[in-house]
Amino acid sequence: MKNIDSYTHTRGESVYLDDIPTLTGTLYGMVFGSPLAHGKIIHLDISEAMVSEGIVRILTYKDIPGKNQIGGIVPDEPLMAEDEVHYNGMPVAFVVATSVEAAAAAVKKIKIEIDPLPVITNPRVAKANGSLIVPPRTFKIGDINKAFAECKYVIEGTAETNGQEHLYIETQGAYALPAENGAIKVYSSTQGPTAVQRHMADVLGIPMHRIEVDVTRLGGGFGGKEDQATPWAIFCGLASFLLKKPVKYSLHRMEDMRMTGKRNPYTSDYKIGLDQHLNIIAYEVEFYQNAGASADLSPAVLERTLFHTTNSYFIPNVTATAYSCRTNLPPNTAFRGFGGPQGMFVIESAIAKAAEHLGISASVIQQKNLVKTGDEFPYGQIIESEAKVCWDKLHDLNDIKKLEIEIADFNKKNILYKKGISFMPICFGISFTKTPMNQARALVHIYTDGSINISTGAVEMGQGVNTKMIQVAASIFSISPDWIKLNSTNTYRIANTSPSAASATADLNGRAVQVACEALLERLKTIAAESLQCSVTDVEIKEEIIFINGQSADMSWKDLVMAGYLKRISLSEHGHYATPGLHFDMSKEKGHPFAYHVFGTALTSVTVDCLRGTYEVDAVQLVHDFGTSMNPMIDKGQIEGGLVQGIGWMTMEEIVFDEQGRLRSNALSTYKVPDIYSVPKNIDIHFLDTQNDNLAIFKSKAVGEPPLMYGIGTFFAIRNAIKAFNPDSNIEYAAPMTPEKVLLGLYNTKND
Ligand code: MTE
Ligand code: HPA
Ligand code: MOS
Repeated sequence: MKNIDSYTHTRGESVYLDDIPTLTGTLYGMVFGSPLAHGKIIHLDISEAMVSEGIVRILTYKDIPGKNQIGGIVPDEPLMAEDEVHYNGMPVAFVVATSVEAAAAAVKKIKIEIDPLPVITNPRVAKANGSLIVPPRTFKIGDINKAFAECKYVIEGTAETNGQEHLYIETQGAYALPAENGAIKVYSSTQGPTAVQRHMADVLGIPMHRIEVDVTRLGGGFGGKEDQATPWAIFCGLASFLLKKPVKYSLHRMEDMRMTGKRNPYTSDYKIGLDQHLNIIAYEVEFYQNAGASADLSPAVLERTLFHTTNSYFIPNVTATAYSCRTNLPPNTAFRGFGGPQGMFVIESAIAKAAEHLGISASVIQQKNLVKTGDEFPYGQIIESEAKVCWDKLHDLNDIKKLEIEIADFNKKNILYKKGISFMPICFGISFTKTPMNQARALVHIYTDGSINISTGAVEMGQGVNTKMIQVAASIFSISPDWIKLNSTNTYRIANTSPSAASATADLNGRAVQVACEALLERLKTIAAESLQCSVTDVEIKEEIIFINGQSADMSWKDLVMAGYLKRISLSEHGHYATPGLHFDMSKEKGHPFAYHVFGTALTSVTVDCLRGTYEVDAVQLVHDFGTSMNPMIDKGQIEGGLVQGIGWMTMEEIVFDEQGRLRSNALSTYKVPDIYSVPKNIDIHFLDTQNDNLAIFKSKAVGEPPLMYGIGTFFAIRNAIKAFNPDSNIEYAAPMTPEKVLLGLYNTKND
């Protein structure tokens, strides 16, 4: 089935927040953010701004009727600063005016006097100062001390990954309308409608049942709208609530880049130990996560880093400790992979460094240590592994020996161009790591003409979840998808939603749709059995026709629905699904947090221009464990998009904050993302079609986040090409591998 949005997308008719027609009298808001990253507010002067043309009101924390608090995991984040600011761009006031231009002009006239405090941007410094968001956590298996004593090779090192700007095409925004009796309706570009509802209720001091959050679709989220869509929606809601007027705020790209958090940068120290057969028998690692100024989702991101510490490998002795460090940057947040990629980069760096030390290819160590079914991860879950199958299939598709010879040949013949390859196996756990979040609901209405309307808690952000929801219902009823319409995501129709995140949206909401549809199907079959005088088990619907014992009865889907209505049965159902079997004990850091794991392996080849430091990704070939894909076209799109986003993170996307905590890469002229010229020349995706019974929907494994991690392979392929040019290069294990870094790496040596 084609993505149901492709028709309106290509015609420019799809509705995003900014396409919602505004009502007469709509006001426009804009945030005044702190010009400094840390300090005490001495004085806020809004007098000049208040007489600016078109100004209606300027809100500060003093105008909040409820709590000035929006922290999700830790209550450490005010909606607006009170007497201190903790990052450059932190909201201090919200200006409301008759037009966007008037609001922008007024924001410029606000004056603030701040007594500066020391600015910390480095997580190691924050840790040394004891400035942690939550207490550190340690995942442990076996005994590393004993194991290290038995190792033949022990290698230590440091690895670093920078942040990443989400760069959803649609910036953050919201549009709030006052409703009767002090209720609010808000259109929000959010992955988490319930998060918006809950925090807005707290800020306004009203119950959640008065807040209707509605989401048609997002122009991308990538994790950036899991928690961080909330403040903008509350600003609009607050102004609308107080002024009894519709209020809209759609952020300018530069505001969005400056004020919102990004992927958490990490710096990490590791020690890896191998025995004489190259089995990794010990791994010790300390992760320093740059959380930014408040917790946001960082503690949960930190946890997933720990879960993915060993990536796709079995290591019997591991101690991994993670620190969430408070700095004066915008609060960092969820980003595709959610801490997993950060953890995986470190183990891949450790393996690459060990291989270099031993003078062998990293793939020898990788292959040797792939996790097998029955192995235990440091957090106690026993694995059902497809790691080796993916690895082997990729090797069946290629003559790796020949490829290696070809590359060595090329590198010998060419002085200024060098090629490099790498393998990147991935293993990603599916489920929210916080067990209670693994639940979802769906509401299915069948109308008397046979058409169906479905609501779920799933938010469409380009990943194609709405199409998959329709596929679930169409397949259960055996009717054409044309009969089925998916509704906007709305907190009045579906309550207590988990955010659309953790790659689990289709699994959770799809299962809820399945539960509701199967209940309706049973009810309708009973009606068919009654009117056709047969047993319920003899009834089947096939392509909108009712069959009895395989014989077509003179009854269509439409007839059956009408018969059900006349018999006064309910043609509506609310389905609930909670993933079974999940548990995790934080006091022991052991349990079974994931419904299943997704596996895959990518082979990346690159060419580096050794005069310029530039590079091209020649090809990425990968074998990916899709389970039984529900929609190969959509899933392939997820792989391509995720891969390229991962390559961007690893190569060109460079976030730069200066020592004062000011974002210098604050526009598309200073922050480079992959374009058509930087994508791999060839992306070759092979489906590993597994039929195992798992907890996904229709056996189709989740696909949203895992492919991002294939992009990590590009870093190591470029590194190998640099080493082919200059074996003594001192190039560090620090991403992104920008052309500047490549150039330095090509000509610097270890002794420099
Ligand atoms: N694909 C598109 N086009 N746009 C997005 O914003 N977000 C990614 C991934 N793929 C995203 C995307 C992230 S971070 C997640 S968690 C999943 O989609 C969420 O959707 P799913 O749970 O339906 O896979
Ligand atoms: N993944 C993504 N988003 C989340 C998670 C998770 O495990 N937990 C809370 N939000
Ligand atoms: Mo995705 S980072 O779980 O929104």
